[in-house]
Amino acid sequence: MASQASKQLEPWCNLNGKVVLVTGASAGLGREFCLDLARARCRIVAAARRTDRLKNLCDQINQPSFLSSRGPSSSTMAHDHDEVRAVAVELDVTSNGQAIEVAVQKAWEAFGHIDALINNAGVRGAWLVSKYVGKCMRDGGRGGSIINISSIVGLNRIQLPGGLAYASSKGAMHILTKTMALEMGKHNIRVNAIAAGLFRSEITESDSVNLSFKKIG
Ligand SMILES: NC(=O)c1ccc[n+]([C@@H]2O[C@H](COP(=O)([O-])OP(=O)(O)OC[C@H]3O[C@@H](n4cnc5c(N)ncnc54)[C@H](OP(=O)(O)O)[C@@H]3O)[C@@H](O)[C@H]2O)c1
Repeated sequence: MASQASKQLEPWCNLNGKVVLVTGASAGLGREFCLDLARARCRIVAAARRTDRLKNLCDQINQPSFLSSRGPSSSTMAHDHDEVRAVAVELDVTSNGQAIEVAVQKAWEAFGHIDALINNAGVRGAWLVSKYVGKCMRDGGRGGSIINISSIVGLNRIQLPGGLAYASSKGAMHILTKTMALEMGKHNIRVNAIAAGLFRSEITESDSVNLSFKKIG
């Protein structure tokens, strides 16, 4: 089974040149995804509402010194110092479908296609951004990968008081992921979810979560 999978899948360690759209890229996990994927030589489309933060992130990635600062492959592979490797796109996942489609079109045109979408900003974003990116991937005919960022609360591993809406949305994210995988697989688009554990970020600054951190600590 494992050898069968390895014949079908590309090696994860070779991400050179892949174009990745990350939603919720201005802070927390999304920002870290962008930095790590850029270090793995992906081209990044960073999306969120706070464009000043996105610009800072893209400026950091586009600096000629960025790839030589860290990463196992950075010292052995040549790269064009003038190359743009990260582009910012303003995207509010609570906007209507038409506005999201326009933002997705800008994201698609930034590098001419998108290989992977990381839905890091909410279940509504995972649904609508995937819908428009998925259409472009299907029409582009080169397949792709969609990764939905969920939480262990959506897997019934931990529940926090006051987390009803959040836990319900993450539970929904897993059903959304499974159904999207079924529907988009025929277009060679993989859909998966990552259920993250608890870590410090702007989201977990809320009083109830901070209290839980103190209890766990
Ligand atoms: N932190 C945890 O312990 C934890 C645990 C499990 C799962 N997760 C999941 O991991 C993901 C990232 O969480 P995080 O803790 O890194 O969050 P965070 O630091 O608060 O960052 C959230 C990001 O989402 C963006 N965002 C918020 N509302 C948006 C909207 N309407 N449209 C577009 N972007 C929006 C924010 O950017 P703008 O404000 O600039 O738009 C920001 O970039 C979330 O899906 C979260 O549920 C987090």
